[in-house]
Amino acid sequence: MSSRRVTLVPGDGIGPEITEATLSVLNASGVSIEWDEQLAGMAALDELGTPLPDALLESFRHTGVALKGPLTTPVGAGFKSVNVALRREFNLYANVRPAKTILRDGRYDNVDIVLIRENTEGLYVGFETTIPVGDDPKAVAQSIAVVTRQGCERVIRYAFDYAVAKGRQKVTICHKANILKAVSGLFLEVGRDVSRDYEGKVEVDDVIIDACAMKLVLDPSQFDVIVTTNMFGDILSDEIAGLIGGLGLAPGANVGDSHGLFEAVHGSAPDIAGKGVANPSAMILGACMLLDHIDEQEAATKIRTALIQSIRDGEVRTPDLKGNATTAEFTDAVIGRLN
Ligand code: NAI
Ligand code: MG
Repeated sequence: MSSRRVTLVPGDGIGPEITEATLSVLNASGVSIEWDEQLAGMAALDELGTPLPDALLESFRHTGVALKGPLTTPVGAGFKSVNVALRREFNLYANVRPAKTILRDGRYDNVDIVLIRENTEGLYVGFETTIPVGDDPKAVAQSIAVVTRQGCERVIRYAFDYAVAKGRQKVTICHKANILKAVSGLFLEVGRDVSRDYEGKVEVDDVIIDACAMKLVLDPSQFDVIVTTNMFGDILSDEIAGLIGGLGLAPGANVGDSHGLFEAVHGSAPDIAGKGVANPSAMILGACMLLDHIDEQEAATKIRTALIQSIRDGEVRTPDLKGNATTAEFTDAVIGRLN
C-alpha cells in the first residue's frame, strides 16, 4: 500500500502533546501516512526567526493536506496570525466545525450541529490602523471588514452542497444585516440567492447573530448546518463546542478547492501546556476529518468509534471532562479500543 504524504505541524503550547497522542492513535489504526513535519508559529520564530517559514508553505503546496496543532498568536501586538495567513494563502475558504454530543450526561444530549465559517474575509482581512491625536498615539482605532460577493457565494454554496451530501435537513444563514447593512447585508443577500438553487433539497432560514447565540443555548436541537461570516463563526463555534462539553472535543477542517488543513478548534492552551493533561480528542477528531478527506473513511470510523467509547466509559477522562486521566492514559485507552 502506498502511503499518502501529509504536512504535519505540531504547533505551540499543548500542540506537541496532543500531536504525539494523535500520531500514536493514527499509527495504531494501521493507516499509512508519510508525515512531512514542519515548524510554524512561536516554535518556528524561536528556531528559524519567522512564524511562517517558506519550508512549511512549500510542503503544504505540494502535499495539499496538513494536520496542524494550535499556534499561539500574540494578543494586541506582535506578529499576525499564522492560521489566518495559511487560510488566505491557500484559499481555505470554508472552515467546517462539527459538534456532536459525545457525553450524554452533559447539559444537552442531542447536539449535532455543523458550523461553516467563511475563513478568508470579513474582519480578518487585517485592514487595521490606529490614528494618533495630540500626544495619544492610539487615540482612534479602526478595523475594516471586507466581504466580496464571490467570497460569500463560494462558502454559502459549500454549506448547501455539504448539507445535501451529508443528508442534512436545514442550512441557517447567520448574520447581522440589520446593523452591518453592507457586509452582513451582502452575505444574507447572496445566501438567499444561492438557497434558491437548493429548493426542495434542503431547507433554509436565517437568523441574526445575537438571537442565534441565545437560541443555541436554549435549544441547540433547532440548528443543523449554520453558515456565517468569519468573526461570527469564530465566536459561535467556541459557543457550540461548549454545548458538547468544551473545546477539548471540537475539531475543524479548513478547506478550499485544492487544499485541506485539519486541526482542533481550540488554541495552544498555555494555562495547561506541558502538564500532560490536555484532551487530545479535538485533534484526533480533526485527524479523522483528514482521513475522510483522503478517502481513508474506514480508519476514520474505527478511530471515532474507539474515541467515543473511551469517553463514554468515563474511566479515563481528562480533567476538562471532570476526570483525572493524563493525555497519555486517555490515548492508551483509545488505542486499546481500536480493532
Ligand atoms: P484556547 O483554546 O487555547 O484555551 C481556552 C481554554 O480552553 C483554556 O482554559 C484551555 O486550557 C482550554 N482548552 C483548550 N484546549 C483544550 C484541550 N485540548 N484540553 C483541555 N482544555 C483545553 O484559547 P486561548 O487561551 O484564548 O488562546 C491561546 C492561544 O491560542 C492564543 O495565542 C490564540 O491566538 C491561539 N489560538 C490558536 C488557534 C489555532 O491554532 N487554530 C485557535 C484558537 C486560539
Ligand atoms: Mg477561535
